Amino acid sequence: MDYKKLVAERIKENVDLELETIEKLIEIPPQSRMGDYAFPCFQLSKTLRKAPNMIAQDIKEKVNQDGFEKVENLGPYLNFFVDKLAFTKNTIEKVISKGDKYGSSEIGKGKNITIDYSSPNIAKPFHVGHLFSTAIGNSLYQILSSQGYNCIGINHLGDWGTQFGKLISAYKKWCDDEALEKDPIKELLRIYVKFHDEAEKDPSLEDEGRMYFKKLEDGCEEEVKLWQRFKDLSLKEFKNVYEMLGVEFDSYAGESFYNDKMDDVIQEIDDKGILVESNGAKVVMLDEYNMPPCIIKKADGATIYATRDLAAATYRKKNYDFAKSIYVVGMDQSLHFKQLFTTLKLMGHDWADSCKHVAFGLVRFADKKLSTRKGDVIFLEDLLNESIEKILEVINEKNPDLENKEETAKKIGIGAVVFTYLKNNREKDIVFDWKEMLSFDGETGPYVQYSYARGKSILRKAGEITGDVDYSKLNSIEEFELIKSLEGFNKAILDAIDRLEPFMVTRYIIEVAKGFNKFYNAHNIINSQDEETKKARLKLVEATCQVIKNGLKLIGLEVVEKM
Ligand code: ARG
Repeated sequence: MDYKKLVAERIKENVDLELETIEKLIEIPPQSRMGDYAFPCFQLSKTLRKAPNMIAQDIKEKVNQDGFEKVENLGPYLNFFVDKLAFTKNTIEKVISKGDKYGSSEIGKGKNITIDYSSPNIAKPFHVGHLFSTAIGNSLYQILSSQGYNCIGINHLGDWGTQFGKLISAYKKWCDDEALEKDPIKELLRIYVKFHDEAEKDPSLEDEGRMYFKKLEDGCEEEVKLWQRFKDLSLKEFKNVYEMLGVEFDSYAGESFYNDKMDDVIQEIDDKGILVESNGAKVVMLDEYNMPPCIIKKADGATIYATRDLAAATYRKKNYDFAKSIYVVGMDQSLHFKQLFTTLKLMGHDWADSCKHVAFGLVRFADKKLSTRKGDVIFLEDLLNESIEKILEVINEKNPDLENKEETAKKIGIGAVVFTYLKNNREKDIVFDWKEMLSFDGETGPYVQYSYARGKSILRKAGEITGDVDYSKLNSIEEFELIKSLEGFNKAILDAIDRLEPFMVTRYIIEVAKGFNKFYNAHNIINSQDEETKKARLKLVEATCQVIKNGLKLIGLEVVEKM
């Protein structure tokens, strides 16, 4: 049974509001003694011309209380107390019978959503900022898919632009082929940096770079071959990282994919009469919107990042007919996306309103002792490996006989990093701190993973649970609070979708894990006072583990059965 729906229906019988509006207004009070669901009457006060507390009192007198222990009015609020026994039984049985599907729905059925995420640049390191995008994008993908939306994950690779001309030039002069095969991105980065250093002394190098890019654009065999090689080598490295993270994409159509689609878009902009000339370049003016112009073509005729994004947006609408198009990209590109969406709107595309820039903050490091291969750039692979290693050390110390130690350390170590990214409001900067991130108590990945493994260990010890369960045995405050948390899973997911904020799911998982630990610390499960109590508590443990597992999946983490 869906109690929130039931509350909404009971209220609907008494007031003139849409069911959906009522559902949105319903709150979960912070404390059980204030009820399990509350309906605020402020909104009704205008139409009914009555004080909210009077309205609350009126409804209370009329409302059908069937299925509830009681309904009370407190000030402007109408508080519903669920029938605890029915609620407990319903919730636990629902979680267990739905299993991996608990929390899911079909509300998004038939709607396509494109999600542009990760999108690293070829020949450049996959850095900690790209992991931010990868973690959020992947989580939104999982979250939206769980509600029936058809998601299309797009890795908009940075695989085109004048930098590739420079790279070809640098390759011909300085590349060490052996190093390129062994550690491709490191070598490509080395020669790219060298190119810039040398170009400061000898500006003619820039012309050479431009010349090679022109050749690449014109499809000259040698240049295209080199570019393809850089791309293949880089992708191979990126895919290692994706495999570690368990992240997949439906499309790897990067910037170069739009090469042959750019002329049409430029033509379309021109036909609209909004393409103007400015210092030799072709631009769309946006002063009216307090923004600098959106450059479409540079003075030398080359297209830019924005042009390719215009082509990509149009292509995505045509190809996927999205209901929403999401771009998970750092906050530093906010202006770019505002310009992009405004230009699309000026082109007459009303669907520009369904394009959303899902921005995120910066990543900083509390302790500098991170292995960097070159300058300030932190290679993500190194970061993940370091995390796995540190967890392995802990396991070796605390549980040296554990089977599959490496596998377990991998899941916990990588999970700890991803969890850190998804723990707070995405626009908040992240400060990486090993000690905090890898702690087993605190609001961390390892803490949640450990709670799950602890639950699983109890269930293994107890063996199979058979026969009817007397849920009235679950009558403590800790038990009821936990059950209430379990019931709120779908709401947490819907909140996350509403704000495109995975952290609302992460917070929820933390709440469940904390509730579980409170319950665990207050009550003996295996050695309960009687068999019936033990059975009911084990059911609660089983349901809790299921919810933690489902929740972690939505933020891209896998559970471990033992640790
Ligand atoms: N490659 C870009 C970067 O690393 C991100 C691309 C984001 N996606 C987009 N459609 N512009 O900054």
